[in-house]
Amino acid sequence: MAFFPLEKISQLHDGYQKAFGLEGYQLLLLQVDGQPYIIENRCPHMDVPLTHASQTPEGKIRCRSHGIEFDLQSGRAAGPLANQLECLKKFPVIYDGTMIGLEL
Ligand code: FES
Repeated sequence: MAFFPLEKISQLHDGYQKAFGLEGYQLLLLQVDGQPYIIENRCPHMDVPLTHASQTPEGKIRCRSHGIEFDLQSGRAAGPLANQLECLKKFPVIYDGTMIGLEL
């Protein structure tokens, strides 16, 4: 496993959201309520990118295509599809010096 930096920690803030392509992975780095997350940039509903998804005050991300919300802590969809959709794929966030990224 190797560390891949994505962003300077100093650039993060609540509402931050940016897509990255790395080693064949499509990733989304975002920060909600002081907590950074790295997720696969793919909605589990119909595989569209979550690049322009909106963040909710409850720590969820809402896909713009059909409005399904996913809890960033658990990765689970909210509402009636919770048990039918796979969870968001999350990657552990790694800090290295002034950078935030992940290990692949
Ligand atoms: S593709 Fe994301 S909610 Fe349908």
